[in-house]
Amino acid sequence: MLGNFAFCNPTKLYFGKDALDGLKEELPKYGKNVLLVYGGGSIKKNGIYDKVVKILSECGKIVYEDAGVMPNPTVEKLYEGVERAKKANADLILAVGGGSVCDYAKAVSVSVNCKEDPWDKYYIRFEDVDADCRIIPVGCVLTMVGTGSEMNGGSVITNHSQKLKIGHVFGDNVFPKFSVLNPEFTFTLPAYQMKAGFFDIMSHIFEQYFSGEDDNTSDYIAEGLMRSLIHSSEIAVKNPRDYEARSNIMWTATWALNTLIAMGKATDWEVHMIGQAIGAHTDATHGMTLSSVTLAYFRLIMPYGLKKFVRFAQNVWGVNPAGKTDETIAEEGLAALEAWMRRIGLVMNISELGVTEDMIDGIVKSTLIMEGGYKILTPDDVRAILKASL
Ligand code: NZQ
Ligand code: ZN
Repeated sequence: MLGNFAFCNPTKLYFGKDALDGLKEELPKYGKNVLLVYGGGSIKKNGIYDKVVKILSECGKIVYEDAGVMPNPTVEKLYEGVERAKKANADLILAVGGGSVCDYAKAVSVSVNCKEDPWDKYYIRFEDVDADCRIIPVGCVLTMVGTGSEMNGGSVITNHSQKLKIGHVFGDNVFPKFSVLNPEFTFTLPAYQMKAGFFDIMSHIFEQYFSGEDDNTSDYIAEGLMRSLIHSSEIAVKNPRDYEARSNIMWTATWALNTLIAMGKATDWEVHMIGQAIGAHTDATHGMTLSSVTLAYFRLIMPYGLKKFVRFAQNVWGVNPAGKTDETIAEEGLAALEAWMRRIGLVMNISELGVTEDMIDGIVKSTLIMEGGYKILTPDDVRAILKASL
């Protein structure tokens, strides 16, 4: 049953091979000073940087650069970005990159005029942006698919000294004002990143699907997104330049985490909490931290949400229920999920990410416990999941 909710997603999307032309419509809406934020240099190798800078100059912008945003952006980089944005007196932050660059741009946008330490305020105390804090608008040109950061308020920052990787989900005043989604821009992604992105999408859908037992439109949408992703991912792994597959995946990723499929229902997010804790200790690629623990997590919670796992098996994987117990149907669903994960080549255990047994207690400590899923985990449950995933 759908409860009460307000739905607003203000991000304007430009999608397709000509999507970058959208910049020409958007840029005139903002002042002259643009802080161009990007990562470790992939956009210089694949030509996206040159295309963006050309449009910026055609639109008469003064461009200030903030390069070197690392995967899993750090709090130290955030402080640096705030100083750069202040010096530039930025009217717009243009993020060109993957989820890390987009997340970082949002973190800078709410921190430039923040009177307190942004890490403590937003990531430890989870406070909202103060009413009198001017938020610098953000626009994105997406080059890596997975996080949904192009159309949401999420912003994940890592604090290595505190061994914490924390996401703050900001309100729609922090969502990107616009995002450019050209599937061709993702063609140069290394296979490992591409696959990690595929599982990140799947995990976002799982986190919102595996909760509640009611009849809910959001769950039907989620099943459609999962089926599209499973289909297209298999094609893309074989042929990364298949535009049809890559474009469907890009669109699926956006809808998987732009708040739509969370409407009217509880959501879980525990796998993300464990994945982020692994990330805080290893700096591993986000999607792979999720793939390495998902099956152990599902096997632990399945008895508490059996009905949904049965539905997942039938509606997503086409498991035939005839003559089988609910447990068998649900297990066949998980077996089908595992087979897909292996086929597309995901990381299936945390040892591959550099986790050793002596790190497990620390990861348990860094794991936040959520309350929206089928079982509220105890620290011992988290430990058991990590041990089963070694
Ligand atoms: O830095 P460059 O040189 O650009 O290289 C990047 C980076 O090394 C490379 N890359 C990106 N586009 C490319 C490319 N290489 C070649 N060609 C291209 N077109 O890929 C590497 C990974 O990029 P990154 O942005 O780190 O990946 P992703 O998009 O997965 O973002 C991960 C971050 O997003 C957070 C994660 O925790 C992590 O910090 N998340 C954000 C969420 C949100 N905003 O809602 C939700 C997610 O659950 C996630 O937690
Ligand atoms: Zn994720």
